[in-house]
Amino acid sequence: MGAGLLCLLWITTASAAQTLDVLHWWTSLSERQAANTLAGALQDEGIVWRDAAIPGGAGIGAFKVLKSRVLSGRAPDVAQLIGPTLDDWGELGLLLELDDVAMDEGWSAAFFPTIAALVRVQGHTVAVPVGLHRINTLYYQPKLFVEQGLRPPRNWAEFERVAARLQRAGITPLAQSSEPWQVATLFETLLLAETGAAYYKQLLQLRRPDDWFDPRVFRALERLRSLKRWMAQPVPQRGWEEVARSFARGDAAMWIMGDWARGELLSLGLDVDREFACIAVPGTGGAHLYSVDTFAMMAGGYGKQREQETMARSLASVPLQLAYNRIKGSVPVRRDIDPAALDSCGRDSWQTFSRGAAVQAPSIVHRMATDEAMKDAIIAQIYRYFTDDQVAATEVQRRLATIMRALQNDTGVRRTPR
Ligand code: BGC
Repeated sequence: MGAGLLCLLWITTASAAQTLDVLHWWTSLSERQAANTLAGALQDEGIVWRDAAIPGGAGIGAFKVLKSRVLSGRAPDVAQLIGPTLDDWGELGLLLELDDVAMDEGWSAAFFPTIAALVRVQGHTVAVPVGLHRINTLYYQPKLFVEQGLRPPRNWAEFERVAARLQRAGITPLAQSSEPWQVATLFETLLLAETGAAYYKQLLQLRRPDDWFDPRVFRALERLRSLKRWMAQPVPQRGWEEVARSFARGDAAMWIMGDWARGELLSLGLDVDREFACIAVPGTGGAHLYSVDTFAMMAGGYGKQREQETMARSLASVPLQLAYNRIKGSVPVRRDIDPAALDSCGRDSWQTFSRGAAVQAPSIVHRMATDEAMKDAIIAQIYRYFTDDQVAATEVQRRLATIMRALQNDTGVRRTPR
């Protein structure tokens, strides 16, 4: 082989190896900007982020695409894989172990313990966490509240008074979409508000069918139904980005949604604290309903291991954590940042989460508590209950208990040492 051809071969392999195919579900304005920030940082390292974004809030479509790509031998190099489902992928040997990176970078001390544990399977680190989202967030329009002489509600009695006043003034009190995952996201927040973090976790970790007949679960379901009267009628089915745009236009006074919504409102040009503000959802002040975004590196042949490790290292670094999370609406997964660098909503999220496991509650809908099958089954029941007023709360409790019985031993209850 001539020297020219050898050289050409080398260049081709080297440049092919410099591209990482990244599968994720960030397609809204802020999500795109946040992903571009990560891609820009990779570019500085000489790595091209080839984007494989699959639209669909909460990753409903992305997960299906990932599975089919892996099964047909076209796995991406990097995938947004989050929560306990990492166990399944890790145990099948599909994920690159990042132990050397984790060791060099001191990840186990730098990350919040819950987050360090989340990315470990059978004692190995298999993913890099990028951001910590808080789901129990209530956004409100501060100017409107001042005009109406209202204070943001700290408990449900205040919420009801505020909502009634707003409605009398011709303002829709609460934004909401009837998309199933968005309804279920509201429900899990209400569940946490009723039960507190300890019982919420018991429901999902022990999965005892009888626990789901608890009056607190009943009250959360009742609250979900009663909140409907404060929403636009009929509750429109629309993507969360659309809800964000509508809220930004002032179509509703309050909105309960994970704090990726804050990222979106900021990207739409709104000022936090002046044009929108956030507080914890009533009854959840001291608690943190969390979802952690993580990227796993797919093992596939180890041909891109160097680039994958560089990416992992870069994503967890302090400067990128601060820059990315500011846009995304989440907060750094690290304990060693200065919370003064965060805005008021972010600071409250980060500081609350820092208080430790007792106040942390894993999101069901956003894949922190169960596997896909259980999550989807719960979402389907909650959606049916929300859209059909004929379904009794007790009937839903019975169905949720049945789901627990049927899927008791599936992922989510940790099978493997972290
Ligand atoms: C993810 C967020 C994402 C949101 C909306 C959540 O499950 O954790 O990163 O912005 O879904 O798609």
